[in-house]
Amino acid sequence: MSKKNLYSLLAVLLVAATVLSACGPKATPAPTSTQVEIFSWWVGGGEAAGLAAMQKVFEAKYPSIKFVNAAVAGGSGTNARAVLATRLSAGDPPDSWQAHAGQEIIGTYVAAHQVAPLDDFFKSTGFGNVLPKTLLPLISQDGHPYSVPVNIHRSNVMWYNPKVLQEAGVTAVPTTWDEFFAACEKIKAAGKTCLALGPQWTAMHLLENVMIGTLGADGWSKLWQPGADWTSADVTKALDNYAKALSYTNSDHASLTDWQPATKLVTDGDAAFNIMGDWADGYLENQPPDGLGLKAHTDFDWAPTPGTKGVFVFLSDSFVLPANAKHPDATNAWLTVAASKEGQEAFNPVKGSICARTDCDPKLFNEYLQSAMKDWSTDTVVGSLTHGVVANDAWKAKIDTALGLFLADPTKVADFQAALAAACKSDGACK
Ligand code: GAL
Repeated sequence: MSKKNLYSLLAVLLVAATVLSACGPKATPAPTSTQVEIFSWWVGGGEAAGLAAMQKVFEAKYPSIKFVNAAVAGGSGTNARAVLATRLSAGDPPDSWQAHAGQEIIGTYVAAHQVAPLDDFFKSTGFGNVLPKTLLPLISQDGHPYSVPVNIHRSNVMWYNPKVLQEAGVTAVPTTWDEFFAACEKIKAAGKTCLALGPQWTAMHLLENVMIGTLGADGWSKLWQPGADWTSADVTKALDNYAKALSYTNSDHASLTDWQPATKLVTDGDAAFNIMGDWADGYLENQPPDGLGLKAHTDFDWAPTPGTKGVFVFLSDSFVLPANAKHPDATNAWLTVAASKEGQEAFNPVKGSICARTDCDPKLFNEYLQSAMKDWSTDTVVGSLTHGVVANDAWKAKIDTALGLFLADPTKVADFQAALAAACKSDGACK
């Protein structure tokens, strides 16, 4: 090739490279911020370890950004979300915070203009293409995505101690609430607590599961949509079942510090059952100090909560970009890790959840989590109340107030139902 031809070939290649780079995904400039403050409620057994695993991936990828862990203790975010609300109203948001897919994001943070849309992030990373099609609408408003989901959790899991069941003569794991109550009679007669419960948010968690197990997936979903009827006889039946379930719980539940002590009552052999999300799996199976290091099927076992076989009560943790973010480049770096296969594969097997991404390697997950993956793809999926999917904060707060009164006197089913119906009218779907 002559020198002249070589030069023209080089010139053509240079132009082609420039054009190609302009067409490809926009290269994000390297972040210059020196720290990122990540706010969550992942402090306790199992939860902190999951976050630490993702932090490790972040630190390896962005060594110049200091990871500041601003987690506030308290399962389901009860304390953390109060602290967050104060910070948001003072105009002092963390660089990113944990937020549940569904109404917690759309009906709360988006409605209050506290978070920014992530269209550019989704476009440049292609993240939307690896998310379940059902999840995208729950983090989007008017077609704009507002958060990066890191996982899928399941709320309707009944953890149990097979030895306690066996010793009490309970030969079959209950699949309906009536069977559950019959089992409780035997467990009570054997001198054990039937159903381990913790502080008030775990009572709401139990409430959603009893209601779904009584009303069915469809009946539950309708309660969150226009035309909802909270005064029906079916709802009365569900609340009667709930009152009965409460009668089999440990009397000191309100003073338990969080969900872990309630779950531990089961594995210590003091109680038979605990209805808790599958973050409990991280706590039960992780080796100490991150968990109890227990053996599935021997030290504990699991089944869908009564009446919910074939139903997956879902929630998803995600992270957001604040409106008027202080360090958008650092937030972007965190969201990049939270969205990545590497980040999600590090986080979820430890946290006790499955990836929000559809392309994680199942072999990295234990038997329980592999079963959750299967159920997630085949079951009827409904949303959790306690963990932000079906109701925004205003509605949920009204339900929580009604629940607090009911827990103080669980004979008052009619008052409870009336308060729930009023909450739907004032702040919910019955408006
Ligand atoms: C949920 C959250 C889970 C887990 C749980 C218990 O609200 O989505 O990730 O942290 O609370 O704390």
